[in-house]
Amino acid sequence: MRYLTIALTKGRLAEKTMALFEKAGIPCEEMKDKNSRKLIFTNEEAGLRFFLAKGPDVPTYVEYGAADLGVVGKDTILEEGRKLYEVMDLGFGKCRMCVCGPKEALPLLEDKRLIHVATKYPNIAKDYFFNQRHQTVEIIKLNGSIELAPIVGLSEVIVDIVETGSTLRENGLHVLDEVCDLSARVVVNQVSMKMEARRIRELLALLKSVC
Ligand code: PRP
Repeated sequence: MRYLTIALTKGRLAEKTMALFEKAGIPCEEMKDKNSRKLIFTNEEAGLRFFLAKGPDVPTYVEYGAADLGVVGKDTILEEGRKLYEVMDLGFGKCRMCVCGPKEALPLLEDKRLIHVATKYPNIAKDYFFNQRHQTVEIIKLNGSIELAPIVGLSEVIVDIVETGSTLRENGLHVLDEVCDLSARVVVNQVSMKMEARRIRELLALLKSVC
């Protein structure tokens, strides 16, 4: 029997996913060694193989079939826009994609002004401003610490993830609008979904029973 291969998002998401697999009776002892730099792990009895990848690469591995399944944040699924099936909400990693900025930026949104929007998620920001709000804006791609942008005058607002809200609070920024809710999702390769339908269905049912 060939392994079903599962791409996990390195970091907290992978840890939570493995805790869920363990609860479902599929432990992966090898992966618990924090000092290990190993990237790929197997559970022989279950016929499963797990590997760790950077979040934005998980949908890529799944679309091309290098992984049958993946666990990744909804933010990354939306941003990457890959061809795959999103089949399950795991209910953890919950947060929101929001438009944030100083209070003074609110009228700029309401008046649909031509503003600068800094974000790590240019595709999500484009879809939100162009297709949903019908507001023309200039999107500026950044790679992290997005909250800096309106403080130092790079942009009027940002599109970013808000979890507890403490980064915003500590930097004097506010949620000005919500784009969408986010959480960890299971994605499946479109061919695997047909070829391995039974095994994938069983695996998802098992995960659902402990979710
Ligand atoms: C994320 C996000 C916010 C922060 C939100 O950043 O981009 O900055 O977490 O969390 P909070 O609402 O609980 O404060 P992350 O820590 O992943 O790093 P980054 O800024 O480098 O993207």
